[in-house]
This record gives sequence, C-alpha cells and structure tokens, in this order.
Amino acid sequence: MTRVLVFGSGYIAGHVGTRLTRLGHGVVLGSRRRPRTPESRGLRWLPVDVADPRQVRTVVDAVRPDAVVAAHGPSDITWCEADPAGAAAVHAAGARHVVSALAGRPARTVLISTDNVFAGHADSCTESDPTEPANAYGRAKLAAEAAYLAGGDTLVLRVSLVYGWDRAGLRPNFFTTCAERLAVGAPVAVPDEHWNTPVLIDDVAAWTTALLDSAHTGVVHLGGPRRLSRVRWARHIATTYGVDPALVTAVPQGDTAYACRPRNACLHSERAAHLPELRGLAPVDVFAADAALIAAPAGLPAPPRTPTVPDAPAALDASAAFDASAVFGRDQP
Ligand SMILES: NC(=O)c1ccc[n+]([C@@H]2O[C@H](COP(=O)([O-])OP(=O)(O)OC[C@H]3O[C@@H](n4cnc5c(N)ncnc54)[C@H](OP(=O)(O)O)[C@@H]3O)[C@@H](O)[C@H]2O)c1
Repeated sequence: MTRVLVFGSGYIAGHVGTRLTRLGHGVVLGSRRRPRTPESRGLRWLPVDVADPRQVRTVVDAVRPDAVVAAHGPSDITWCEADPAGAAAVHAAGARHVVSALAGRPARTVLISTDNVFAGHADSCTESDPTEPANAYGRAKLAAEAAYLAGGDTLVLRVSLVYGWDRAGLRPNFFTTCAERLAVGAPVAVPDEHWNTPVLIDDVAAWTTALLDSAHTGVVHLGGPRRLSRVRWARHIATTYGVDPALVTAVPQGDTAYACRPRNACLHSERAAHLPELRGLAPVDVFAADAALIAAPAGLPAPPRTPTVPDAPAALDASAAFDASAVFGRDQP
C-alpha cells in the first residue's frame, strides 16, 4: 500500500481517491473546506490551502506521501478570467509550494491539467502540439505543469471536459445539468460552436490511478473518442430521454459564461497507445455513456441544493451556489 495525498476534494479528487482506496492505497484528501461530494465525504481529509506554503508543508509532513495527485481548483474558468492573479496564486504558486514541500521525498506526482493550455484553433491537440493558453485559467495551469515537471517524477495528465452524474457536486457538469433539465422537459440554452472531446469521470479516475502507478513522466492527453459540439451533445441527451431535441437551443458562446473558452477544447493522444498501463482502459464513447448513465439515474440521489455553503470563503462562493435556472449563464465544466 502506498500513501497518497490528493490535493482537492471535488469531483475528480473524490473519484480518484475512491478508486485508489478500492485498490488498497491509503488516501488523504486536502482542501480548504470539508469534502462535500458523495465520493469524497467518506475519505480521510486534512485542511490545506495550496496557496499557503506553510500549510502545504504541514500537510505533506503529516501525511508523508509516497505519491501525490494534484486535482484542486479553482476550476471555475470564468472566475479565473476575472482574477488571473488569484488563479496563478493557487495553480502556479500552489504547484511550486507542493514541489518544494516534496523535495527530498521520493513522491511520485500526477497533475490533472486541462485542454485550455491550447488556443483552440485546431480541431484537437496532441501532446507534441505547441501550447498557447486560451485564457487565464490555461496560463495558470500551464505554469503549474512547468513547476511540477521541473520537480522530477511527475506526469501531467491533460484532461478534456469531464462528465458523469454529479448531482451533489460543487459545479454540476454539462451532462448532469442537461440531463436533469431535459428529463423533466425543461429547455436548455447551450453555447453554440463549442467543441469538446468529453471524457467520463470513471475513465479519468482509471487513467489517473494507472499512470500514478507507472514510471512515465511528461505529458499525456486524455480525451474521449468522440469530438462533438455542446449543442449536438445536449440534443443527443434529449433524444436518449425521448424528449424533443428542439428543447435545446444554441446561443452565441460570447453571450454565455463560456465566452473565454477556446472554440475547440479537444484532446487526443499520440502517447497513450504505447503505454502498457493504459491497455484495456480506452475511454468510453460519450453517446454510449449517455445511454448508460440515463439508464442508471439512481447512481446518486439528488440532494436539495443549498444556496449557500456556511464555511465557504467569500471569493469562491459563486461557484458553490449553483443556480439551475441560470443554466449556462454561470461557469461550469
Ligand atoms: N472537471 C473538468 O472537466 C476538468 C477538466 C480538466 C481539468 N480539470 C482540472 O481538475 C482539477 C479538479 O477539477 P474538479 O472538476 O474536480 O473541480 P471541483 O469539483 O470544482 O473541485 C475543486 C477542488 O479544489 C479545492 N480547492 C480549490 N482551491 C483550493 C486551494 N486553494 N487549496 C486547496 N484546495 C483547493 C476545492 O475545495 P475547497 O474550495 O474547499 O478548497 C475542491 O475540492 C482542477 O484543477 C481542474 O482545472 C477539470
């Protein structure tokens, strides 16, 4: 068993932590507030703000990890665009704090990064394509990548748009929001011309744990096998529910919280096929996953959404209080 410290306790951290626990590893999550997702709530947790080097050192000294997964926010791209310094303070400086705290420890690290490190001019990007961050979030994550890669035994896993049931999440994802609305015949307004290679949360957890348990370094891309627009995806979800796809309307991306995102947020990999640890872990097609998820809606009970989170720091309150009526007026993955 290895001791794994996972920075973050949100959607990805909770699923990665759960999978690592099932595989027999000792897992501790670290974030500023107590875990609130169903997957992360049952895991061990310590408070830490990665922007504070002393807190990072304290938690690293307490856990003495053999391995680290960096899967913390801020993940709200619109928030990062409004506060680039704040985004850099957590992602870029936070990465330096973690690397510094790990110095002298033989800890392997996986950083969950993003397709926003690319400008989005090309339909899809692979590992050897030159980076050109699309926005402040992409710049902060690229700086974090550089800090982790300079630290040594690190793999950067750039992940495309993640989806799955996330009814109790901090920011329910595109699939969850579309599915919940379309299931009851409610209309959905979706940014037009925004292209993704969506990847199922289970595949993110499977690749992260497999690569953490490998010796590969550098960058690996994880995108789903289908490149599609948000509009096409939402209409497919409607069709799967047997409701009218015309409930999905396209609105100009610039009028939505997606304005600062690249037109193409799509990833593919030229490395993955050569990594034996990923054999048998080909990411599922989003249309097949839609059908499976909709057939198993009881995966998680839908809890009441509380408009405020008592212990939420003011700066990030907006992302915690999701307003379903605003649909995509507010940032979500
Ligand atoms: N979801 C996607 O589609 C996607 C795709 C590609 C990459 N990613 C990356 O994956 C990471 C996790 O994404 P997610 O979807 O799991 O996000 P999430 O559900 O919003 O969770 C983010 C987590 O980070 C923690 N956090 C935020 N600021 C922190 C700080 N200063 N110190 C310590 N912890 C902090 C949050 O808890 P507290 O607020 O309590 O601290 C929360 O537990 C992000 O870096 C994101 O960029 C996500």
